[in-house]
Amino acid sequence: MVKISVKNYNQVDLTNSLLVIGIYEDNNDLGYLNNLTPLDLQEKINDMIITIPEVPKKFGKNLLFLYKGDNDKYIRILLLGLGKYNELDHNKIRQLGGIISTKAKELQSENIVVSNFYKTTIKNVETIVEGLSLSLYEFNKYKSNGEIKSNFFDSCNVDIIIFDESNQLELEQIIKKTLIIVQSVCYARDLANSPPNILTPAEVANSALSLEDTDKIKVKILDKYQMENLGLNGIISVGKGSENPPKLIIMEHNQGAPGDKPIMLVGKAVTFDTGGISIKPSEKMDEMKFDKSGGCNILGIFKALSMLNIPLNIVGIVPSVENMPSSSAYRPGDILKMYNGKTVEVLNTDAEGRLILADALSYGLERYSPKCIIDFATLTGACIIALGANVAGIIGNNDDFIQKIIHSSVETGEKIWQLPLFDEYYDLIKSNVANIKNIGGRTGGAITAAAFLSHFVDDVPWAHLDIAGTAWTQDGTIEKSYNPKGATGFGIRMIVKLLESNIL
Ligand code: BES
Ligand code: ZN
Ligand code: ZN
Repeated sequence: MVKISVKNYNQVDLTNSLLVIGIYEDNNDLGYLNNLTPLDLQEKINDMIITIPEVPKKFGKNLLFLYKGDNDKYIRILLLGLGKYNELDHNKIRQLGGIISTKAKELQSENIVVSNFYKTTIKNVETIVEGLSLSLYEFNKYKSNGEIKSNFFDSCNVDIIIFDESNQLELEQIIKKTLIIVQSVCYARDLANSPPNILTPAEVANSALSLEDTDKIKVKILDKYQMENLGLNGIISVGKGSENPPKLIIMEHNQGAPGDKPIMLVGKAVTFDTGGISIKPSEKMDEMKFDKSGGCNILGIFKALSMLNIPLNIVGIVPSVENMPSSSAYRPGDILKMYNGKTVEVLNTDAEGRLILADALSYGLERYSPKCIIDFATLTGACIIALGANVAGIIGNNDDFIQKIIHSSVETGEKIWQLPLFDEYYDLIKSNVANIKNIGGRTGGAITAAAFLSHFVDDVPWAHLDIAGTAWTQDGTIEKSYNPKGATGFGIRMIVKLLESNIL
């Protein structure tokens, strides 16, 4: 993991570092460099700003140059365009953090000094740290030794310059906390990026069990036979076609007052979604290894919980299955009796996520009487059609609750947008032969999927996040420095922030 600390200008050695200097489009004042750099450097950069057009000022543009300092030693300087002074918000600072460390990695420059070209408030430092660290994530576990250049993520060292020491302690604390959350996001990315031949439902369960080491989390795994006995037929049916049996992962973090109703977090973990008998086209089918991202998010959140001592009761439920076609697979036409007694007509075996989530939701509801529920799922292609690949959908039964989640998502720069759940959508999933059917036709697919789920949460405040478009970088993803290729861990930061704020 990258090391990040705050330093006063007189505590850094520039000669072995990449020094980052920010330049605004509409403000040439480099006064913030006073004391940090040799005096003539400021003059030199000022000269350059006036005389050469290559000096980057537009947001995110950058230029490297070498400056010969005292003792003939060179300082590597990265000039970084900041855009307009009044437009530099948290989302942009996060992006800049990512641009800085990506550039440093390219140059294999392990020591970075970030000058205070922005106000070093708690929130600004938090976001630059997020950008600096999240962008260095790399999934290289399966590259054999010769091919891995170096593990830059672990060897990188960043000094963030502050000018006054009044809030140094608070800044050190926020950096520590942010890096814990980033570590949890990277853990979830590692899981979601893992290939489907390795990360079977049993291995997702094993990873959850490894979180128990800290003693702060209890993990229980239900196997296929236990689920059969309990009547968790949604999960059992979807898993029937695979040699890799399904698992139900149940995690508890009990640091709230005893007897306080828990917050329940649920996540879809389909380790591979072929579509089953209603098989998907082969193009890009490999991407369906990411269909476990919702569940991986819940494991990531619990990893963060184990390190952050959040004084709440929280339960996490992750149904994990592989959706395969075979002679033992469930079929279109099957009628399933779900855990809560409702019957479902299966009309498409590719709409499997809602079936496993339905059982997980009603099982958790019955066992834990949660005060509210949030679920994460790569549930529908329709959500990507509706909102694109950079915004997740949020749908639920309680607008106040949804607003709290949206508020947190604005803070973390993970964009979500609410879709409605009007009565009309429920009509679309009525079945002729069972209580409901598992598809609602071609229209409003993200919402009919949510309408289906709402049959399994009673009246408990519930929000469903459809992360089909945002869980990994795909067609239509706008590149963001802090989301390297592959799984993103989208949504983890927003939920950890929400839990920390203790407003639910
Ligand atoms: N895992 C998919 C949804 C998905 C598709 C996520 C593409 C990300 C990218 C889900 O299980 C699924 O296949 N849903 C179907 C539902 C349909 C059959 C009603 C879909 O979206 O096509
Ligand atoms: Zn599917
Ligand atoms: Zn799926």
